[in-house]
Formats: sequence, structure tokens, C-alpha cells
Amino acid sequence: MNARREPIGVFGAGYVGLVTAVGFAELGSEVWCVDIDEAKIEKLRRGEVPIFEPGLAELLERHRDRLHFSTSPRETIENARLLFVAVGTPPTYAGDADLGAVLSVVAEMPVSADYALVMKSTVPCGTGRAILRMLEEQGRSGIAYVSCPEFLKEGSAIADFANPDRVVVGEDGAGWAADAVCALYEPLGAPLVRTDVASAEMIKLAANAFLATKISFINEIANVCEETGANVLEVARGVGLDDRIGPKFLSAGIGYGGSCFTKDVSALKLLAANSGYHFQLLGAVIEVNELQKRRVIAKLGRHLGELAGKRIGLLGLAFKPNTDDMRGASSLVLASRLVAEGAHVRAYDPVATEQALVVMPSLDCATSVQEAVAGADAVVLVTEWPEFLALDWSELARTMHGTVVIDGRNALDADAVRAAGLRYEGIGLG
Ligand code: UGA
Repeated sequence: MNARREPIGVFGAGYVGLVTAVGFAELGSEVWCVDIDEAKIEKLRRGEVPIFEPGLAELLERHRDRLHFSTSPRETIENARLLFVAVGTPPTYAGDADLGAVLSVVAEMPVSADYALVMKSTVPCGTGRAILRMLEEQGRSGIAYVSCPEFLKEGSAIADFANPDRVVVGEDGAGWAADAVCALYEPLGAPLVRTDVASAEMIKLAANAFLATKISFINEIANVCEETGANVLEVARGVGLDDRIGPKFLSAGIGYGGSCFTKDVSALKLLAANSGYHFQLLGAVIEVNELQKRRVIAKLGRHLGELAGKRIGLLGLAFKPNTDDMRGASSLVLASRLVAEGAHVRAYDPVATEQALVVMPSLDCATSVQEAVAGADAVVLVTEWPEFLALDWSELARTMHGTVVIDGRNALDADAVRAAGLRYEGIGLG
């Protein structure tokens, strides 16, 4: 045991919880991680990783002696005073964040000022205050409350933990606890943003909403480029060199996916609405994204005419490369719309097939690119996995029935596709 590092407890062994657990273990902390899912905890105890995240398995293995997994919070509470909450806050049917799992964990918290609840889960602004009020009403007040939102990206979560752009620590008088959380992150050398709880909660929502806005903005620019002959890659390059705008998150495509942007943009819009403010911009961000996912259907229609009976090969299913996460994936909308039009869809993803079949059990999944593409009238690149960027298009073209390739991420080598005798179309390329 590393005596100099504060031990921590982590409630929730999902993406955020596991990355937080192994990240702090790597920095030298003993970590007690709790999850209600017995099968998941059993796997973790055996050293198996329940999710696909590059680098996670290696860190779990390296720090097996420092990482303790359990379904009961007792051991966690006995060994750590900083109790990180990293459970899911999925959208409710109304589009708000469902705080059910968060509240179940809060119910397990010790009634003592010697402990701190450190909120990692993304929660609506005002949640920290509401939790403290609730505990007070129940006669269970005492625990310190710190908001410490997570900014990791799936697929690069381990690197994001180790190199954060900033660490946000919000407190409303939680003194020692906020200092202890800051001390935990101190070795990473990132700028610390110390603020109040409500502002910390809002920083997280505002950051995700702004990034989603950037994507919907460049997607609309791409759509106008298609009408005017401009090339969105050139436009994004020229615009992104402006220091005030920056080059990141200006890649046009077939819409953003994942659980976070979809959920958080909607949650922020509803949070505003519930407090009497109509957040017009976010309504447009959401609508543009939904339409963007469907634009490929129109592109295919322009090339192929009637889609009924046509064979479409989809390359990629995950919402982005390096993850098996299918939540909010554009592929789901695309595949189900194509099937509804009467097309035959065959998809291939190097990692996400199993997860995709959970959501779309009838999806025809291939076991290789070649199998997905053979006999296809058109092929759509949905997820820019590295292995799709180096395909031999001449070889693939020989097995296709048609000649259309739609590059939904502007990631393929257009010249190589055209040289194979295929018709290439990207997003917003003029
Ligand atoms: C996002 C944020 O980037 C993280 O900072 C945040 O911590 C996380 O949500 C969260 O709230 O937990 P993530 O959903 O893992 O991370 O993925 P991103 O890399 O942000 O990509 C989201 C989607 O946007 C993907 O579908 C991606 O293909 C799309 N995207 C991204 C674009 O279409 N264009 C771009 O320029 C960038």
C-alpha cells in the first residue's frame, strides 16, 4: 500500500468509474470500487475487463493489488473517506437526467463529516444542493459534498484521465474534502478550476453542449457547401486556424452519437425549460443532428434511385472508433431507416457487433469488411476505424455489385476509391 496517497472509494464500475479507479491506482492510491452488478464485479475480480477501452485492461492488470472490487459498500467505507460517485444518469422518457442510480448510492453514504461524496456522474445543475437538502430532511446530513465532473472521451479515456485540459472542483464549504480532491489530481499538473458546486455542474453541461453545437454548426456548413461547391475540409481548416475558434470538433459527418452529447444537450435544454428559460440554440443543435444522420439516405437515393431491394454495406457501427459503445450511434438510425425503405443492410464493425446486436437483434452482421461489401450496390463508411482507412478498394470494387461509396466521416482516400472505378461522395466536399 502506498502510504502517501489518499485511498479512494468509487461507486459504479462503468466507463467513468473504472477509468477513475485505474487512473488513481496508477497514481498510487488504493481503490475500493463498488457496483451492484455481481457478474461485472466477478469478472473484474478475475482480471477481466467488462468494456472495450484501449489501455484499461493493462492498467487493471498492473494494479490488481491496489484495486478492490465488491458489491457491498462496507469495505469501501471502512477504507476510504473520499467516495467518488460514478454511476449512470441516463435520460428519462421526458429527456431529463434519471438520478435513480445516483440517489441509490447517496442512500449508502455514511452519515459523518469525516467523509466526502465526490460527484463524478453528470448531473443537472442544482443536484448537489438538492442532495444536501434531501440528506438534511432525512436527518442524515454531515457528509461533505464535492462536484468533480469528468471530461474523458470514450476510446481515449485513459489518456484523457492522465492529461486533463483542466480539473474542476466545486464545493460550497466542503473545505478539507475539496482540498483532498485537488491533492489527488495535483500530480497531473492540470489547471485547477475551484468553484462552487452549481458552477461545476454547469461547466460540465455547458462544455458538452458547446462541443455538440460546434459539430452541428460544421455539419450545417457542410450541407451548404454541398449546395455551393465549397469544400468543408478547406473551410474547417481556414476557420479553425482562428485562435478564437480552434481546429478541434470541426469534422463534418453523419452526426454526433454516444450517450453523452445526446443526453447532456437534451438535459441542459430541459433544465433551462424547467427553470422557465427556452434554450432555442440547443433545440436547433439537436434537430440538425437528427437530420444529419438521415441525409445519407437521400444521398443513396440520388445515386441508386429506389432503395427497396438494394444491398447496402455499412462499415462501422460504433458511435466512434476505439469503442464498442452503440448508444446514440448514427448507424442505428441509418440501418433502421434503410431497412424501413426495403434495402438489405449488411454491417461490419471490428469491435461493436455484439453490442449492436443487443440493440438491433435482426441486423445482418458480417465478420469482415469483404463480407459486408460483397454484392453491395453501395457502401457507407459510418465509423472511421483505422482499419477502414487502409482498405484495398480495387479488390473490394471487384466484389461489389454497384459502384457507390458514401464516406460519412470524410475519412477515406477519395482518390484511391475513384481509382478503383467507384463513385465517391463525402460530406460537404463540394
Ligand atoms: C464526450 C466529450 O467529448 C467528453 O469531453 C465528455 O467527457 C464525454 O462526452 C462525457 O460527457 O462523458 P464522447 O461522447 O466519449 O465524449 O465522444 P467524443 O469524442 O466527444 O465524440 C462524440 C461524437 O461526436 C462522436 O459520434 C464523434 O464521431 C462526433 N464528432 C466529434 C463529430 O461528428 N465531429 C467532430 O469534429 C468531433
